[in-house]
Amino acid sequence: MLYSDKVLEHFTNPRNVGEIENADGVGEVGNAKCGDIMKMYLKIDNGVIEDIKFKTFGCGAAIATSSMATELIKGKPIEDALKLTNKEVVEALDGLPEVKLHCSVLAEQAIKAALSDYYTRQGLDPSIFIGELKEVEH
Ligand code: FES
Repeated sequence: MLYSDKVLEHFTNPRNVGEIENADGVGEVGNAKCGDIMKMYLKIDNGVIEDIKFKTFGCGAAIATSSMATELIKGKPIEDALKLTNKEVVEALDGLPEVKLHCSVLAEQAIKAALSDYYTRQGLDPSIFIGELKEVEH
């Protein structure tokens, strides 16, 4: 089987899909090559990610990794969300086929973009916390 049970399960029944009204941070990223787009919404209270939702126009692997990524950081401090890597998300899903690894980068980048927006809205320089956003590679 190309995809693990967990990937298929999150693809069929993705968690935290939708948008958050009056979100504290919104980030959108896209992959130039496949054209897939992902939008991430954050509700942040006292430095904790109270709620997170995503919408994606993307492939199955992008949906599954976003679903898992939102589950991993919901209810966690911002610091934990900043440290989340696409590798951890892929591991939590019991792996992804090599050719689909780039899809997991979209989820990581969408979270960082939303946090970057959050810091900007707080009047802070996001690059201090997040660093330069790396390019989404295909
Ligand atoms: Fe574009 Fe998966 S093929 S994100």
